[in-house]
Amino acid sequence: MVSQSLVIAIDGPSGSGKSTTARLLADRLQLGYLDTGAMYRAVAWEYLNSGGTAGDADAIVVLTREADLRISTHPANPLVTINGHDVTTAIRDPRVSASVSVVATNPDVRRILTKKMREIIAAHHRRIVVEGRDITTVVAPDADVRILLVADPEARVARRAAELGHAVDRHAVTDQVIRRDRDDSTVSNFTDASEGVVVIDSTFQLPEEVVAQVLRLVDTLPADR
Ligand code: DC
Repeated sequence: MVSQSLVIAIDGPSGSGKSTTARLLADRLQLGYLDTGAMYRAVAWEYLNSGGTAGDADAIVVLTREADLRISTHPANPLVTINGHDVTTAIRDPRVSASVSVVATNPDVRRILTKKMREIIAAHHRRIVVEGRDITTVVAPDADVRILLVADPEARVARRAAELGHAVDRHAVTDQVIRRDRDDSTVSNFTDASEGVVVIDSTFQLPEEVVAQVLRLVDTLPADR
């Protein structure tokens, strides 16, 4: 018997707990997991690696179109390669974080990567949790469950600082989060959820509590959808 499709789309700003929630859900429901931000990051890494300068939009589009970009969909084994380079760790580098918006705000790059994301979802027989910024609205508006995960900026800064370790400068992290919010606002709107998207506020919730809320939504899906 072929398992029924179940696409869970999760959007939200950086530090809202998307990745943790998405990975836990994929693990719990035995679904694939796709981190779409990692795809934008991989292209940004390759662009920096090729010596590109920030404003060369045409070069970014050609590079994206021609890139051999591969991403693991296993929730516990992240692996991202681009043109044969394993960039799983390198794409988290602050240099990449600082330049990824140049890539992510390019409409042609978005079209190319959106197509690739849809191919990955289809290759998974639509049994996958997908996280990003425009999954509920552009990449998979037909997902079975669509979540906008939000959290107060203070909570997001605290989580980001905890991820980076004790020695981190809290002001620098606050600046980073504010800058990312501003950059991301050109891509998506985190204040008004589109119709059918369930907003979950993770500010005062543990990841397990957020996961439990999403699982309750999955339980209410019609069997014959
Ligand atoms: O989630 P993240 O921080 O790894 O995302 C990296 C960048 O990619 C971020 O600037 C937002 C952008 N992004 C996007 O524009 N659309 C997506 N679906 C996912 C990420």
